[in-house]
Amino acid sequence: MATGLGGIPAATVPPIIRDPSGNSLRVGSGPPRDRLGPAHRERDENAPGDLVTLPLLPIVQPTLPDTERLLEDFRAVLGNPKVTVGRYVKELEEAVIRLTGAKHCVAVSSCTAGLMLAVSAFDIGPGDEVILPPFTWTSTGLCVLWRGATPVFVDVEPGRFTLDPAAFERAITPRTRAVMPVTVFGVPPEIDAIEAIARRHGIRVIYDTAQGLGSTYRGRPLGGFGDVEVFSMSPTKVATSIEGGLLTTNDAALAETLGRMRDYGKAADGDIDRLGLSARQSELHAAVGLRSVEALGACVAARSRLTTQYREGLRGLRGVSFHEVPAHTTTSWNYFTLFLGPEAVSTTQAVHDALEAQGIQTKRYFYRALHHQTVFAGVPGVAGLRLPVADYASASGLALPLYSHMGDGDVARVIAAVRGVLA
Ligand SMILES: Cc1ncc(COP(=O)(O)O)c(C=O)c1O
Repeated sequence: MATGLGGIPAATVPPIIRDPSGNSLRVGSGPPRDRLGPAHRERDENAPGDLVTLPLLPIVQPTLPDTERLLEDFRAVLGNPKVTVGRYVKELEEAVIRLTGAKHCVAVSSCTAGLMLAVSAFDIGPGDEVILPPFTWTSTGLCVLWRGATPVFVDVEPGRFTLDPAAFERAITPRTRAVMPVTVFGVPPEIDAIEAIARRHGIRVIYDTAQGLGSTYRGRPLGGFGDVEVFSMSPTKVATSIEGGLLTTNDAALAETLGRMRDYGKAADGDIDRLGLSARQSELHAAVGLRSVEALGACVAARSRLTTQYREGLRGLRGVSFHEVPAHTTTSWNYFTLFLGPEAVSTTQAVHDALEAQGIQTKRYFYRALHHQTVFAGVPGVAGLRLPVADYASASGLALPLYSHMGDGDVARVIAAVRGVLA
């Protein structure tokens, strides 16, 4: 029989029954019992084999601003005829400029839309190549496909799992127009090396900083690097607009173009003079985003404390490593991800399932790497492509529950469960 880590036979993972709300699950094989067990208890010791309801510990939860404060903001929005790209969008953009040190910010409806606008703004299209790491969320590659350009996947650095500058340079051809380095779980890529290479070859740098609001590189907040950076404000991010995205740049002309492109490509006289999207951010979303950005520092500090608890509690597990945060960077701690050792890669799904059976949601992340996703299968050079570091990271990465208002007791529960599964 196949065994998981710690010799757990896969078949001992009990069946999981979700309740319709998705907020709890039941484990075991007996008839349902109408009682709530302590969060960490798998079985009722007085009635072994019976079902016990466990509260589900989600992998992420948005930390939303104070409801009363938000209701005040919503009343202000609803009392004003301009309900999209109005006062709150402007205030959000200004708050992000102050936070990041970037000269300009354009709020949009999602990071994916922002990435599409960024690639589009540089007229990148058919016949052009864009270099990017495959260890990322699919949007980094999708925006290249949407433009009819060719994504070129190159490997990532061991340990921090961000774009490998040497691999980037080796992949440059006369058709390369841009590179898209990605902030991974909050950890920035090696910006100095990447930008030096890009400058030498006349290549645009479009950062996918979806997970990096609140991260820093050599003491500077992310947001002011390269030609443009694109952040996500979706519900899984440390600061959220519920749904939304942000473009930041130091280039005034580019910011002006992006501002028009989020609104179909509309010029001041009403003419549509370039290809745009309907990608505005509504005032309601911007109000949530503004209050969320105001709380970002406290959220990153809370996550830093929680992840220290994780690192101390999980230290010394055989073969397991933590995502590296180089000393000249800081992370927003958007995710806390473990990497199971190379010899344990085949058990990642079993570990995920064993934790889920205890009511602990984890996420194989980023899985699958982009060069293994069907949508990219027809891209030249992708068939049979092996990128050893990205392939390892994607096969062995397991993100643990983390959110800014998570309790110490919940972290302790996860630590105990992970130790139990991996011991
Ligand atoms: C690295 C990365 N890029 C892009 C995105 C897409 O963000 P959005 O959902 O705001 O479009 C995400 C979202 O998780 C992400 O993690």
